[in-house]
Amino acid sequence: MAFSYKFFLVSLLFLPLANCENKYLHSCAKNIIGNVDLQARIIGVLYHLMKATPIKGFTSSSFSSSGDDNTLYALAQCRGDANTDLCSKCVKDAAKTLQANCSKQAQAYIWYDLCFLRYDTINFFGNWKIGGAKTAQTDTIDAKNTSVFVPTVKIMVDNLKSRVTMPGANLFAKMMVSKIFNLKGVSVYAMTECTRDMNKFTCIECLDQAEGLLPSICRSSSGCKILYNSCFIRYETYDFFSTLSH
Ligand SMILES: *[C@@H]1O[C@H](CO)[C@@H](O)[C@H](O)[C@H]1NC(C)=O
Ligand SMILES: *[C@@H]1O[C@H](CO)[C@@H](O)[C@H](O)[C@H]1NC(C)=O
Repeated sequence: MAFSYKFFLVSLLFLPLANCENKYLHSCAKNIIGNVDLQARIIGVLYHLMKATPIKGFTSSSFSSSGDDNTLYALAQCRGDANTDLCSKCVKDAAKTLQANCSKQAQAYIWYDLCFLRYDTINFFGNWKIGGAKTAQTDTIDAKNTSVFVPTVKIMVDNLKSRVTMPGANLFAKMMVSKIFNLKGVSVYAMTECTRDMNKFTCIECLDQAEGLLPSICRSSSGCKILYNSCFIRYETYDFFSTLSH
């Protein structure tokens, strides 16, 4: 067992770094003190997520061995429109970053543009209230004509909330709106997404919570991400869906 974990460690450390500066936000907690088993398990879990996630764009699992109480719950998801290659690359980068930045902690979240990874010693599957980690990133530029822009974003997010739970949507929805009256030449690109351990009710609950943060966090900014533990909202005035912008 010890041997195979060492192998995992080596394979993570030798992953090539992404060729572009992939922005990410992360959060880790619950210091691991002297629990070698748990630290080794985290490495194994990251390795599993890297292998399993690109297949369907999502994976969630719990990891334990009999007779120990260090069960680790882990989830990884690629953004609904990411192809297998981009997904695979993103999860590798995220796993590597977590390994570098959160290796001594038993709870971790990392949000990249194209993927999200999370693990914890509590079973959070299906429950967006557990953990409650959130982060946000706001564009420093104010939107043009905020009296039109801000309500437009709100209408788009409401619309995306109704689409995200449609059959086949896989809890991901995106849209672009252009030719907005009194917002000359500005197009708005927006998305909503829930992690796939949510059902349509918990997904909407989580998005309601995230949407409620738009006025205080995003204000009149021309771009913003609200990254919750189980759902995400993002809008920009540029096409962040295009692969060129990754
Ligand atoms: C994460 O780890 C990398 C590599 O050690 C380091 O360069 C980076 O500054 C760390 N990021 C944060 C936010 O701590
Ligand atoms: C901003 O929108 C308001 C409301 O539609 C409009 O009256 C105003 O002329 C717009 N301003 C600009 C600079 O487009």
